[in-house]
Amino acid sequence: MAATYFALFASGLAVLLLLVQGSPPGPVVQCRSGNTNCTVTNGYGAFPDRSTCCVAAVAYPSTELELLLAVSDATEKQQHMKAVTMYSHSIPKLSCPGGPSGQGLVISTQRLNRSVSVDMATSRMTFEAGITLRELLDAAAARGLALPHSPYWQGMTLGGLLSTGSHGSSVFGKGSAVHEYVVGMRLVVPSPAPVNGYYAKIVNLGEDDPDLLAAKVSLGVLGVISQVTLQLEPMFKRSITNRVVSDVGFEQTISSYAVTTYYGDISWYPSQRRVVYRDDIKVPITTEGKGVNDYLGFRAQPTHVGASLRASEERVEATGNAEGKCVLFRLQVDTLIATGMGLKNNDGGLLEFTGYPVVGNQSDMQSSGSCLRSAEDNLLTACGWDPRFAGSFYHETAISIPFTTVADFIADVKKLRDAHPNSLCGTELSLGFFIRFLRNSTAYLGKTDDVVEIDITYYRSRDPKRPRLYEDVLEEIEQMALFKYNGLPHWGKNRNVGFLNVKNKLGAKLAKFVSVMQKYDSNGLFSSDWTDAVLGLRGKEVVVQGDGCALEGLCICSTDDHCAPKLGYFCRPGEVYEQARVCRKIKSVEADGLAWSA
Ligand SMILES: Cc1cc2nc3c(=O)[nH]c(=O)nc-3n(C[C@H](O)[C@H](O)[C@H](O)COP(=O)(O)OP(=O)(O)OC[C@H]3O[C@@H](n4cnc5c(N)ncnc54)[C@H](O)[C@@H]3O)c2cc1C
Ligand SMILES: *[C@@H]1O[C@H](CO)[C@@H](O)[C@H](O)[C@H]1NC(C)=O
Ligand SMILES: *[C@@H]1O[C@H](CO)[C@@H](O)[C@H](O)[C@H]1NC(C)=O
Ligand SMILES: *[C@@H]1O[C@H](CO)[C@@H](O)[C@H](O)[C@H]1NC(C)=O
Ligand SMILES: *[C@@H]1O[C@H](CO)[C@@H](O)[C@H](O)[C@H]1NC(C)=O
Repeated sequence: MAATYFALFASGLAVLLLLVQGSPPGPVVQCRSGNTNCTVTNGYGAFPDRSTCCVAAVAYPSTELELLLAVSDATEKQQHMKAVTMYSHSIPKLSCPGGPSGQGLVISTQRLNRSVSVDMATSRMTFEAGITLRELLDAAAARGLALPHSPYWQGMTLGGLLSTGSHGSSVFGKGSAVHEYVVGMRLVVPSPAPVNGYYAKIVNLGEDDPDLLAAKVSLGVLGVISQVTLQLEPMFKRSITNRVVSDVGFEQTISSYAVTTYYGDISWYPSQRRVVYRDDIKVPITTEGKGVNDYLGFRAQPTHVGASLRASEERVEATGNAEGKCVLFRLQVDTLIATGMGLKNNDGGLLEFTGYPVVGNQSDMQSSGSCLRSAEDNLLTACGWDPRFAGSFYHETAISIPFTTVADFIADVKKLRDAHPNSLCGTELSLGFFIRFLRNSTAYLGKTDDVVEIDITYYRSRDPKRPRLYEDVLEEIEQMALFKYNGLPHWGKNRNVGFLNVKNKLGAKLAKFVSVMQKYDSNGLFSSDWTDAVLGLRGKEVVVQGDGCALEGLCICSTDDHCAPKLGYFCRPGEVYEQARVCRKIKSVEADGLAWSA
């Protein structure tokens, strides 16, 4: 989840809430002349390696035929391509085409945002892939239909959220990944030999076509998804109550909680030693309630407040004042809890949150993101992570661990927390360890087990060579999740190291994916060094070695230079998971007595 900056909302300026306008996010593709000579970035303005992605051109098809022409032209020229979305919310370098820098093409799906058709008898709807989640939910609701599961943020597009396996939280039925509800897809893929005069063709995948298992979650490497048919349900309501309890023994409750709470999730604030269970269930449409989820962290934030909170965080980082961070963020979490996390009992009413449960239509409760929709106000307000102002800037580690071992993982994290009580405060601004549930999947790049996805958002320095407070503790947790507990990364989040060894973790499923990829894009025009590295192809690596690389999650340290020895950070083994190699601050190398190097 993204950073949550809401100090203001509690601090006597509540009236501003009613006036907030908000600047929608800026463009992620910027060109020097017309639609040529462009740079591409993500919604945060920075890929994990902070590289700039340069492309020769951007295309804005508004029909499937225009899309076909764009892919055909590029294929004829053997130009590398990628689909890019309206806001490009994935963190990894997924939307940058492969091939030589400055020569690729990005195909924006921004104008492919219509609903195409609806079948009321089966509750199925077909959409163009560039439609944003908010637009999709509205179009379905207008027909009395609901998407059963979705991510919690409305700014992603249908094509983009599917391509990275995005999800909500549930182990009921097929679980919370949106791709489980895909029953058809149309893609435009390259064709090395012309078909009807075009070097591209349309592939129409029906519900039982095995290639759909590759296309549902594809990292954009098969071609461009043109349309998607989703299995929806008649509209229903949800009833949400947030419940705050101590974290003692909570790890033992995760499995039983998941199987009894349809849409439940858990925010664990490890330093505060408390958890918030979101008791979130499905209720009949006839239940009373006009509730709306307008999560505080996804509202337009006054940029001066966001900037000053970030400045406070930078100050406590610079002075090594971990305790200060704990105090600062505890206040934020108290505010969040006291205001119902941004739930509103009665949309449109003056009173916002008046008490639990909050009951509302699925389409109003399943996701939020009002910072996207408001009028331009010259950056007086914006989404909290908007790169056009000096607001939040963070790393995000999102890894899934099977239900069978998640309690052991949490117990290991608690050992680190107990040894260093202030070490995890930095995660608590953004829901702490945010815990959600998914089912195993038949999609080749889907989850291999029923899993618990743990999402951790934490400080990233603007200076890539500058370590964080308690750098070592979160690095150890990241490696523990990935290697001791064999976790799988969320494809649209994570630092580079999150993708180490994915090939072996997915095994035969990945091989099946790659063979479908080679069938549809035999020359790899939709692949890039990054997708090759993630999929373990062509000898490409997800890690980038170099001075300070471990600080940015570009490598796991194996020498002190991968950390920041001049600033006192050295490469050392983990404390609980000894196989980990982490950048630890050491007062004196001699006193350490552990001088370790690979
Ligand atoms: C504030 C915030 C909250 C989030 N919350 C959640 C959450 O609750 N749950 C969750 O799972 N994730 C969450 N995410 C992550 C998000 O769902 C993923 O990063 C998602 O992939 C973003 O979709 P996008 O449309 O921005 O796609 P992008 O990030 O632009 O694209 C992702 C990939 O898909 C490809 N692609 C996009 N469209 C097409 C197409 N039409 N055809 C072929 N390839 C395509 C792109 O080339 C790229 O490779 C959140 C992100 C943010 C910023
Ligand atoms: C792209 O823009 C840069 C900077 O203005 C310029 O140096 C370069 O020549 C341009 N490239 C092309 C192909 O137009
Ligand atoms: C599609 O995008 C256009 C331009 O961004 C927007 O005005 C329109 O409302 C969108 N259409 C739908 C169905 O959401
Ligand atoms: C909730 O959905 C129902 C059924 O589609 C609809 O009639 C009702 O207007 C919706 N309620 C709100 C508050 O939008
Ligand atoms: C998912 O797990 C269930 C048991 O929990 C099993 O029956 C099913 O075959 C699995 N499905 C996949 C796709 O692995």
